[in-house]
Amino acid sequence: MWILLVFVFMFSWHLLNAFSVSVPKEKYKARYGSNVTMECSFPVGEKLDLSALTVYWDKENKFLVKFVHGEEDIKIRNSNPRLRHLNDQLFKGKSLLHITNVKVEDAGAYRCLIGYGGADYKWISLTVKAPYRKIDQRIKVDPVTSEYELTCQSEGYPKAEVTWIRGEQDLSSKAIVTYSIGREKLFNVTSTLRINATANETFHCLFQEKDTGKNTTAQFVIPEKIEPRTYFGILAAVIFLGVILMFLCFRKKHVRTIDIEKNCLPR
Ligand SMILES: *[C@@H]1O[C@H](CO)[C@@H](O)[C@H](O)[C@H]1NC(C)=O
Ligand SMILES: *[C@@H]1O[C@H](CO)[C@@H](O)[C@H](O)[C@H]1NC(C)=O
Repeated sequence: MWILLVFVFMFSWHLLNAFSVSVPKEKYKARYGSNVTMECSFPVGEKLDLSALTVYWDKENKFLVKFVHGEEDIKIRNSNPRLRHLNDQLFKGKSLLHITNVKVEDAGAYRCLIGYGGADYKWISLTVKAPYRKIDQRIKVDPVTSEYELTCQSEGYPKAEVTWIRGEQDLSSKAIVTYSIGREKLFNVTSTLRINATANETFHCLFQEKDTGKNTTAQFVIPEKIEPRTYFGILAAVIFLGVILMFLCFRKKHVRTIDIEKNCLPR
């Protein structure tokens, strides 16, 4: 009996003294522009003794949070205004790092290191995704070859594949894609398809996210149009007919005025 009690006592004593940091979640995914709160927890016991607590957060060898003896390092805190350590949650045994307006550069491996009697640390990873939400589209006709030039452009992260389709036909191999790094490390993706097309034909460009396979789509309908050559042809024909008609009327005028009034003038 005594041996059992001693064993329980020893076991509890061990639990109280072994210090370890735990993470409810190791991997976070955040959308560009959203907020995220990453959590490390530690055992506080009865009541948190701030003077015995040390909290560090770092990423890529840079300190993000330094909280020692109940005080946060203000210089580090002010160096990134989008980051906030929620100090008021520490008494619950939670060290929370809140990031507002998440950017691509926030992605990476974060480490929380907590000292409270003992010391321990854990890694947390953050990935950031910016969906290709809005596609800018342009359509142009080459006046010489009368080929169409269809262009789709959008911004997001990570890199997206662009697919072009006409009905069931995949035209992607004919398209030219350019990638550039745009604002805030987002990819600026522009894809241009040059193709012969007839009026009312429908084309789609699809921006496909690599991990989910989700697509953002834009549609092109080739407009009805009068070819410049046809247009001038019709115009020339109309003018020609007009001239002939006038010529005939005026010629008749010399002959018989009454007839002309019958034939040429509106009644
Ligand atoms: C993100 O957090 C900021 C500040 O805490 C808040 O003003 C904003 O509304 C939050 N945005 C979202 C999308 O929750
Ligand atoms: C996105 O488009 C690609 C290419 O056409 C297709 O293979 C894929 O199934 C589409 N994904 C979804 C979720 O519809």
